[in-house]
Order: sequence, then C-alpha cells, then structure tokens
Amino acid sequence: MKALILAGGKGTRLRPITHTFAKQLVPIANKPILFYGLEAVAQAGITEVGMIVGDTREEIRAAVGDGARWGLRVTYIPQEAPLGLAHAVKIAKDFLSNDQFVVYLGDNLIKDGITPFIKGFIQRRPNAQILLAKVPHPERFGVAELVEGRVVHLDEKPLHPKSELALVGVYLFDSTVFEILGDLKPSWRGELEITDAIQGLIDRGYEVRHYVISGWWKDTGRLEDLLEANRLVLETLTTSNAGQVAPDVRLEGKVIIDGFEGFTESRDRSSVNVLRSKNPQ
Ligand code: TTP
Repeated sequence: MKALILAGGKGTRLRPITHTFAKQLVPIANKPILFYGLEAVAQAGITEVGMIVGDTREEIRAAVGDGARWGLRVTYIPQEAPLGLAHAVKIAKDFLSNDQFVVYLGDNLIKDGITPFIKGFIQRRPNAQILLAKVPHPERFGVAELVEGRVVHLDEKPLHPKSELALVGVYLFDSTVFEILGDLKPSWRGELEITDAIQGLIDRGYEVRHYVISGWWKDTGRLEDLLEANRLVLETLTTSNAGQVAPDVRLEGKVIIDGFEGFTESRDRSSVNVLRSKNPQ
C-alpha cells in the first residue's frame, strides 16, 4: 500500500496568504496542515509516499525532506500545472505501479486519521473506496448520490446537490483506476476530475465502497475553514498545568501551561494555547 499526497495546486481561494506561501504549509495550531496528513499516513502503517508538487515544490521539499522524521520515504512527483486531482494520480502511475494506494489531499484534516479506512480497504479489496461526510453546504464539494446504500452518482460542486454527503479528500484505489484515467476528458473547468474517474469505475461496474465518517473533517481551502480547523485542533488538546498560576489569573478554555522559567518563544503547537501566569505588579 502506498500513499499519494497532493501538495501542488494554486490555492487561489486562500489568497493573499498563498501568494507567498504554499497552502499546505499554512500552520494549524502551529503545525503545517500537510504534517497532519503525513502523520495520518504514517499512523496507518504506510511508508512509501509520493508527493505531488507544483510551483511551491522547493518550500514543500524544504519542510518535508525525505520524510524520515515520520518514518516515511517520500518521492517528489512534479506536476507541470494544476490540471486536476485525477491528473495528479495519472502522472504518478509509475510510482504507484500495481499497488493499492490512498490519495490524500494535502490541505485536508481528518480528526480520527485514516487507519480504519485503510484496514477495511485492504481486507475487502474493492476497486475504490471513498469517504463521505455530512456537510451543511455540499454544493462546495464533490457530492455523492446513494441509492439503496450504494453510491450511484458523483457530482463535482453541483448547483443542486442530491445529498448532504460530501467527498472527503481521501480516496483509495487499486490499479483499475488507471483504465479509466487513460480515457478521462477535462471537465468544463479544464481539470481531470477525480469524481469523473470514480464515476467511470461505477459506470463500468467496478466495486466502489463508501464510508460515512463521524468525526470532523476539514478541507482548509478557504480562510474561514482555516480558522475553524485551528479551533477544532485546539479543542483536541488536553489541558495541563506544569507551572504556577497566580491567584489573580483566570484560565479559560483548554490551556497548556509549561513549567519552565522564562518561557517566551513558540514551542510546537502546545504554545498556541499557553497563558503565562504573571504577577501584575
Ligand atoms: P484544490 O483545493 O481542489 O485546488 P487548489 O489547491 O488549486 O486551490 P484553489 O481551488 O483555492 O485554487 O486542491 C486540493 C489539494 O490538491 C491541494 O493540496 C492542492 C492539490 N492539487 C494538486 O496537487 N494538483 C492539482 O492539479 C490540484 C487541482 C490540486
């Protein structure tokens, strides 16, 4: 099993941040979004990672390196332009060879990781597996239509969504998908769409399973999503206090207090919620 992480793209919806910065390196609770994905992949027991990179390839390379920090082996796969999620999969064919693989969008965060979905996929061996999440605005995503518990139709950002079930940015495939990718045509927005590739598998009678996830999932494509993701991750922190709190200091919400003297600098994500107890005199 290999992983393909997509860290190319344009990030137009996150401008102006992404004028100067790779969108996948924007920090959520002091840690680049992309690192959550790398952790999720490593946790699932995968070691071979292909990383799709575009214009920001040098930044991504500088941040991720060879992946050894996560116990991963990262191979960089340059994409000449952001021609679509399915295009990214298509150009990774040699890297993915005949293995089963997971495609993970580098700007997505999934609270509970991906381990159970990977396990289910390896055991059941369908041709593809998608993750779905109930969302309030499905028209912003790929949307799945289910009939009698089976996915029958996928629509990319439909004007009139047929369900509230959005496609989460994690897809599992076996090599059958390359049959479809060979014939895939660009959509009206000029991209090879992953929804069209999965629809192609459904239409040709291949087995496409789905899971509806219950924990939160965030596509951090827009500024408000980044803020929400930051809040959600901070919610998962466990309150701890290794220092001293002055009697006139009040702690609100989830707070981590470090125990050592003179702590002023950011230290990993724990510092995000650190309040320093300070004598007002
Ligand atoms: P998107 O959010 O669909 O696209 P984008 O990054 O171009 O952003 P925007 O719509 O704001 O312009 O991409 C999801 C993830 O996939 C993100 O990490 C970028 C990556 N990606 C690629 O690597 N190659 C591609 O061709 C596309 C479209 C996206």
